Amino acid sequence: MVIGIIGAMDEEVEILLNNIEKNKKQVKAGMQFNVGELWGKEVVVVRSGIGKVNAAICTQILIDDYKVDRIINVGVAGGIGKNIYPGDVIVADSLVQHDVDTSVFGDRFGQIPRLETFDFKCDEELIKLAMDACKAFKNYNSFVGRIVSGDQFIADIDKITWLKSEFDAVGCEMEGGSIAQVCYLNKTPFVVIRSISDNASNGAHIDYEKFIPIGVKNSTNILKSMLKAM
Ligand code: ADE
Repeated sequence: MVIGIIGAMDEEVEILLNNIEKNKKQVKAGMQFNVGELWGKEVVVVRSGIGKVNAAICTQILIDDYKVDRIINVGVAGGIGKNIYPGDVIVADSLVQHDVDTSVFGDRFGQIPRLETFDFKCDEELIKLAMDACKAFKNYNSFVGRIVSGDQFIADIDKITWLKSEFDAVGCEMEGGSIAQVCYLNKTPFVVIRSISDNASNGAHIDYEKFIPIGVKNSTNILKSMLKAM
């Protein structure tokens, strides 16, 4: 089994690239695809770049050119809700693109027009593996729930209040929903695992810079335990 691992930013794949063995690199669409072994599993690790378009291109290349059987997206997210703090982990069970808006036609916000699904569901087995991995992490809480994605860095209390009420989301980021859509269209099982870097509220960009390292460390640790258990 070959597992595609996507992180949006250098920081999010750095630990993975420091640990990958027999690394063969290839550049496509400006993205470096690292084929090798990571913690005993055959993987392709890639930094997609930020945002939904980058992430979608990257996912389709992993599926078409590297024939990956599973895709795991790791990295950081803004936490939504009072009880979620930097370093906590979200295992997504479904994803929605919160910036899709054809409401003028009567569609719900987030609905991709003329697609038969509203949300994109993560693979049950991968969710379970991630949740089992979370159990070993005593210092942080973990949540299973919906992550919403859009081409926006959220730093606004009114916006997160809306994301919570409209989508019942526990986290927001900028790639997961498009990775999920590409995986859905290609019938490729996937999961998104994100650790909290900020509370997506006013001043989030300042917390974000500060807490990226702990977020990356925690989501990478979950991935490591998962790969070992697979
Ligand atoms: N990734 C991490 N924090 C985020 C936020 N507040 N908005 C969007 N993406 C994020």
